Amino acid sequence: MSKQFDVLVIGGGPGGYVAAIRAAQLGFNTACAESNAYADPKGEPRLGGTCLNVGCIPSKALLRSSELYEEANHSFAMHGISAKGVSIDVGTMIGRKNTIVTQLTGGIRGLFKKNKVTGLNGHASFAGKEGELYKVKVGEEEVLAKHVIIATGSKPRHLDGIPVDNKVICDNVGALDFDAAPKRLGVIGAGVIGLEMGSVWRRLGTDVTVLEAAPDFLPFADQDIAKEALKLFTKQGLKITTGIKLGKVSVAKKGVTVEYEDKDGAKKLECDKLIVSVGRIPNTDGLNGDAVGLKLNERGQVEVNGHCQTNLPNVWAVGDVVRGPMLAHKASEEGVMVAELIAGQAGHCNFETIPGVVYTHPEIAWVGKTEQQLKAEGIAYKPGKVPFMASGRALGNGDASGFVKVLACAKTDRILGVHIIGNSASELIAEAVVTMEFAGASEDLGRICHAHPTLSEIVHEAALACDKRSLHF
Ligand code: FAD
Ligand code: NAI
Repeated sequence: MSKQFDVLVIGGGPGGYVAAIRAAQLGFNTACAESNAYADPKGEPRLGGTCLNVGCIPSKALLRSSELYEEANHSFAMHGISAKGVSIDVGTMIGRKNTIVTQLTGGIRGLFKKNKVTGLNGHASFAGKEGELYKVKVGEEEVLAKHVIIATGSKPRHLDGIPVDNKVICDNVGALDFDAAPKRLGVIGAGVIGLEMGSVWRRLGTDVTVLEAAPDFLPFADQDIAKEALKLFTKQGLKITTGIKLGKVSVAKKGVTVEYEDKDGAKKLECDKLIVSVGRIPNTDGLNGDAVGLKLNERGQVEVNGHCQTNLPNVWAVGDVVRGPMLAHKASEEGVMVAELIAGQAGHCNFETIPGVVYTHPEIAWVGKTEQQLKAEGIAYKPGKVPFMASGRALGNGDASGFVKVLACAKTDRILGVHIIGNSASELIAEAVVTMEFAGASEDLGRICHAHPTLSEIVHEAALACDKRSLHF
């Protein structure tokens, strides 16, 4: 007889595994099926999806290692510390990253055990219905489930005529596993992966050229921030060209040649390795949604409403496989919401307050609307902008680049957006998210006591600056 579950989650990434844990916590007999995309050395599927295996976590581990290397080479001296002959062993750096991945993916197995989630190993595909229950094939076995949560994530978008082998031409998978810092690295796409991975290898001494098709740099970010970021990244040595038209890419023994056109005409980029980071696409490979009539939209995403309900009763979808930003925390929020809705609770996901972060140096973080969006929507706003140069802590840290910008509604004072470029922006944005989640005003933020000396004082000052009453700038 087929095993039967109240909730079957398909995909063990941050959308899927979090949904499974929450559903089990709420008392449902829950299973989570994970295909073998990321196997451990014993061939067992690793949980954690893109995020833990080839995304958020490994990239941040490499960013940290490369940041320390760069600091030792370039920042120690100003403190009077001499660090001559600093070297990096890329094998050790990659090994450390792999150890963290193994630790965390194994940790999810432990969480499944603790919460009594049944882990199913194998690719899942719909096989029809049996009464009200969905029949799903997982590997060789067939299971039945009352509710199915699709959390199959995304995969890198590849370009025609650019064969990714993850050795010379890489997507995110290969880009996280170079065996040495290449002499010359080309990156196609100045998005989040291009900038983060480009930063890692540049810090280790690689000559990095980033080619971006869009005319503007970081078009989704507040353009004030984007301009500052472009200036700082260029100063660091990243060669970024926007508005290019990609031509032929050819691979020879000596490396890769990328032909492209920029505003000055035809160009050729010769490099030893190439990263293709031009976005990701929803992954519904082999899901066989047709067997039950699952609706996809024109972008290949599983079509869902604001509650992550698909066109089918009791079938839900969360994370990268549905609309919205492809972010781990957004996937997890949706997963929790769905589990709670299944339990009849008021599951909730506020899509207006999902923060975004680019983990470059300095970091970039934001929540809510950009200035250009507010202008386009005709919303009157009052900006408060304060640089980290005004922070004693930032100066003490020897890292005072960037600024905080708070955008508050001119009529109600409610905070509509916060944009930060600077050291620890990824942590500082949390305060803005909390304030906005509670529909706070710039005055609310301005009345909160911030510890001194901290970088968070600049968020406070920027809130005060909305009413032209900052105290230290
Ligand atoms: P995924 O994590 O993609 O997980 C889907 C899982 O489903 C996979 O394990 C897959 O094997 C499995 N699966 C697919 N189909 C089936 C099937 N039919 N049967 C069984 N299993 C199946 N986001 C952030 O928020 N912060 C970051 O710093 C960040 N950094 C990133 C860095 C890189 C290099 C990349 C590539 C991405 C990064 N992201 C980051 C994005 C983040 O990884 C994704 O948004 C997140 O992983 C999406 O979670 P998910 O659960 O929807 O899908
Ligand atoms: P992206 O969408 O961030 O950037 C892709 C870039 O490639 C865009 O700027 C686009 O204009 C450009 N592009 C597209 N086609 C091109 C072409 N033919 N030639 C040149 N440029 C071209 O996608 P990316 O960097 O691949 O990352 C995928 C997703 O992964 C992100 O959207 C994000 O959701 C997630 N991610 C999140 C991170 C974070 O939160 N810190 C880190 C890394 C990835």
